[in-house]
Amino acid sequence: MFRHQAVQEVFPTPLWIADLDEAIGEPLNRRLLKTIHELIEPREPLGTGGSWQTDPTLHERAEFADFMTVVLKTAKGALEFLDLDYEGFECTACWANINPTGGKNSSHTHPNNYLSGVYYVAVPEGAGNIEFADPRAQAGVIMPPTGKWNKFTGNKVAVPVMPGRLVIFPSWLSHSVPANTSADERVSISFNIMFTHYTETMSGTLWKKGSARIRD
Ligand SMILES: [Fe+2]
Repeated sequence: MFRHQAVQEVFPTPLWIADLDEAIGEPLNRRLLKTIHELIEPREPLGTGGSWQTDPTLHERAEFADFMTVVLKTAKGALEFLDLDYEGFECTACWANINPTGGKNSSHTHPNNYLSGVYYVAVPEGAGNIEFADPRAQAGVIMPPTGKWNKFTGNKVAVPVMPGRLVIFPSWLSHSVPANTSADERVSISFNIMFTHYTETMSGTLWKKGSARIRD
């Protein structure tokens, strides 16, 4: 009856996941953990579900230079995957998060950046997820029940995390971290990536370059 049938996936949302070799990740995490603990002291009292965060300037500190090398290398790979024309990019903010027992992060985005990411320094048992919400708000208007949610029907994706894992995602993609149910602290480092001199080099009218918004 049909000469051909196919399902085409349109407008997919990429998540880049990179795991460091243990030989690199373990010593790096030991050093990062020590530095983060020093930075976070003295600890402010937390409300229910609260977490500690450092200043968002870790990318400017010498102690995080080798970590930033990992971040920028991974971000460059993500930008190359997207096949974009750009002159440069930079980390615009970087901060550490400590989620104690019960600590969580509500759903949010990272405005004024192109890519964002998080690297995991310490992940106790029972504290190993980051959740991404379906950005297609209308897709949730009707959700027929199914015992088998998949990438076409589900409205949330939980990515398992572990020490040494770096996850990069579009900054507009809403994400959250469920409460840490373990007795130990979950420690991660978040960062933002933006094009350098975006206004001067990239914000010109797209139609001047042709039909730039049409996909292949
Ligand atoms: Fe975030």
